[in-house]
Amino acid sequence: MSNVEVYWHEHVVSREQREEKNNNKGCVVWFTGLSACGKSTVANLVDYKLFQRGAHSFVLDGDNVRHGLNAAPKMLMEKHSEEFAKRFGLGFSAIDREENIRRIGAVASLFASAGIVAITAFISPYRRDRDNVRASLPEGDFIEIFVDAPLEVCEARDPKGLYKKARAGELKGFTGIDDPYEAPLNPELRLEAGTKTPDQLADEVVAYLVSKGIVK
Ligand code: ADX
Repeated sequence: MSNVEVYWHEHVVSREQREEKNNNKGCVVWFTGLSACGKSTVANLVDYKLFQRGAHSFVLDGDNVRHGLNAAPKMLMEKHSEEFAKRFGLGFSAIDREENIRRIGAVASLFASAGIVAITAFISPYRRDRDNVRASLPEGDFIEIFVDAPLEVCEARDPKGLYKKARAGELKGFTGIDDPYEAPLNPELRLEAGTKTPDQLADEVVAYLVSKGIVK
């Protein structure tokens, strides 16, 4: 839409000034993996460990963001028109997941510009959608972390009973069952989530961030 005139405003306070004050660099730590692989648990542990070190971080995760920014059409229907809910509500089709990831990428990018370590934990099953977020950020700002747990392990955990529903055919298009998950080809980190504890995995992530000079 070339007739839409919107301009990007440079901030008066620079990103560098904010990073200096925060004593850490801004970046996007992007966790990806199957439902119940441990993404949110590890993401929140990393957040806690960074907080303890005095760094500034914040977690955006699937279930929380899907209650607000990316609410489902049904949730929007309570306060908005049917047309509004249909246009802006997001479900789990490929195109809805694409928009889910695009919006989260845009929000995480703003957090990074504010000198914050933005930690995201979404299945983000499509390689192209993750790569688009990477491409939208300055080089080195996107740290992709593949939380690699075998499907059998995730299915055995099944904290929300969703794998069971998907196997029973009551939930269609569930990632790993009848919807694809495209594992990263070259993630910055791959975590062996089937065998190590969340605490060990979080330590690996923090060590990586320290090694890159993102946090002290
Ligand atoms: S993503 O694919 O668009 O990245 P997201 O991480 O936001 O997904 O949400 C995943 C969570 O939504 C899952 O952990 C699960 O609780 C729930 N969910 C509901 N329906 C589905 C589905 N069809 N596929 C995957 N997860 C689903």
